[in-house]
Amino acid sequence: MAEPILPPTRNWHFEIDLEGIGWLTIDTPDAPVNTLSRAALEELEALVGHFEALARDRTLLGVVLKSDKPGFIAGADITEFDAMSDPAVLPEALRRTHRLFDRIEALPIPIVATIRGACLGGGLELALACHYRIAVNDEATRIGFPEVKLGIFPGFGGTGRSIRQAGPVDAMQAMLTGRMLKPGAARGMGLVDKLVRHPDQLRWEGRKAVLADKRSAPAGLGKRLMAFGPMRSYLAKRMRDEAKKKTNRLHYPAPYALIDMFETHGGDWKRMSAAEPDAFVPLMASETAANLRRVFFLSEGLKKQGLRGADKPTFQRVHVIGAGVMGGDIAAWCALRGMAVTLQDLDMARIKPALDRAKKLFRKRLKKPVAVNSAIARLEADPQGLGLARADVVIEAVVENLEIKRSIFADAIGRAKPDAILATNTSSIELERIAEGLSDPSRLIGLHFFNPVAQLPLVEVIRSQFNTDASVAKGASFALAIGKSPVIVKSAPGFLVNRVLMPYMLGAVNRVEQGESPELLDAAAVAFGMPMGPIELMDTVGLDVGRSVAAELGHDVPETSRFAKLVAEGKLGRKTGQGFYRWEDGKARKSDTPSHPDLPALGRELVRPLVDETERAVAEGIVASPEHADIGVIFGTGFAPFLGGPLKARQDNRA
Ligand code: COA
Repeated sequence: MAEPILPPTRNWHFEIDLEGIGWLTIDTPDAPVNTLSRAALEELEALVGHFEALARDRTLLGVVLKSDKPGFIAGADITEFDAMSDPAVLPEALRRTHRLFDRIEALPIPIVATIRGACLGGGLELALACHYRIAVNDEATRIGFPEVKLGIFPGFGGTGRSIRQAGPVDAMQAMLTGRMLKPGAARGMGLVDKLVRHPDQLRWEGRKAVLADKRSAPAGLGKRLMAFGPMRSYLAKRMRDEAKKKTNRLHYPAPYALIDMFETHGGDWKRMSAAEPDAFVPLMASETAANLRRVFFLSEGLKKQGLRGADKPTFQRVHVIGAGVMGGDIAAWCALRGMAVTLQDLDMARIKPALDRAKKLFRKRLKKPVAVNSAIARLEADPQGLGLARADVVIEAVVENLEIKRSIFADAIGRAKPDAILATNTSSIELERIAEGLSDPSRLIGLHFFNPVAQLPLVEVIRSQFNTDASVAKGASFALAIGKSPVIVKSAPGFLVNRVLMPYMLGAVNRVEQGESPELLDAAAVAFGMPMGPIELMDTVGLDVGRSVAAELGHDVPETSRFAKLVAEGKLGRKTGQGFYRWEDGKARKSDTPSHPDLPALGRELVRPLVDETERAVAEGIVASPEHADIGVIFGTGFAPFLGGPLKARQDNRA
């Protein structure tokens, strides 16, 4: 029988080798990552028709799905999501993809997915529709369902198929957290069948799997038990309780919709998948999803601020001066992200607490003793400052004292490598004032991290009037190299984040001075969508720090105020166990929240000064664009991502 004619494809290459094995390569044109666009899926439909025909006349033994890019498939094409949100288009598009993936699964010949790099969202759903999955066990390979971060859940049948392969507990956990799993974890859960050490082995192992007609086994009964009867309701309740601790259903409906779907259909993976489209469509069309997509693209855009191509610098050694909370945590973070770090302070007694905190962080994040021990080895106490001369980046994070900072940089500029970044983590002193006495003031930039360093993704890269574009871009490159998101900010009091936070926090503090309940104000801000209320935030930041930033920004704190008195009494918040709240075991002891008829409206009122100030900062050119302000405030303060940032929220009349 003549081989059916295959229409040309732009997203895929297909060839059959002499053994009769088909090699299907996804290659999204003109893009750094592969995605499942509508066009790619339509082409795949034609290809699958082709496989069906070839399998019938036995000219094709099986197919290996692969990518020649560094990543496998980064999911459905998010750039199409706005257009795809149309309820007139989406349900049929989803059902069509479901039919396509079902046809792949129903092929009589083995289809093997070979995975390297990112295998995410729709990419994982496609892999799960294949019969067998092989992944490279390396640092670059990550497997997961990040959909909840975009306000949706898997929509190509992945909810059911992941439960079939991994059992309900692990699969739901993966979908609800959006976590990117390491290959070993994905293998342990059953999302992947086999691991290889190197990408070069994928071809050979893929071939072997086809020839051996490998078929992945679904999760065993022990794992699946939790999907049945009352166990399922119990599990759904537990997951809902967990979700409530982290998110508000009104703000982030996707996890709750997924749990509801699981509770109703989770006992039968096919019914779970079949129920997906109806629950998916309203989520995709929601304001939350649109705003979370915006956050995704803004965040991707920040990556472009670093130096690229041949100019892209490499960073290996970091020297941090000042082992206090910020300096110590910055040093720990850099070591966690693979840099060799020297941490300098006056003596070992001052450095030791930072090293102890670092160990805790390494254990929490890296888990494996080998990885923890190498991170510990990468972070070196350096009371004499010997590491400075070898460092690619020098970060000063000592007390906010102009003279001390000036003398540190006067010394550093003479000893540091000529191309090393010299950066201060000052949160309130204008850069020009520190730089002006230096032999070359253009070398000093600001790298302003946020507390807690391990949690807040933002680094404000501060630009003084002396800096060149290249030196600021190099600072952004460094922030990216340690996995942070840089926003370039003009040197001006409070930069962006402290400047916009302060009127919001002080506004709330004033209301407490007038007799309002801190618990009520905090609950209102959280009901609006902030991760933490303003009074609890002030206690967390430290009342002394809050007061000095307030002064730097020209906000008056009357001596007779409760705020000033607390500072005078050394009741500085969380770190001293007492501030506006009493703190025990790192938690604020709160009284019952008084009732209020409309908490979100009160929250909105509290947040208004923050939004006003963001508008002013943009008008003054503190950041390059309103978009940078939105993403900077989200990443630096946790401002409600589902609203898309303060300016987007105002534009939508939500703040
Ligand atoms: N759809 C459309 N575009 C995507 C995409 C997707 N699913 N995933 C990545 N991209 C784009 C990014 O927007 C960026 O585009 P740009 O260069 O025009 O800014 C580019 O691909 C990524 O390039 P880069 O930043 O160099 O890649 P990376 O190695 O830093 O990160 C990923 C790659 C895949 C880890 C990261 O982009 C990611 O997490 N993507 C989202 C995955 C996702 O949520 N998928 C589920 C969709 S339902």
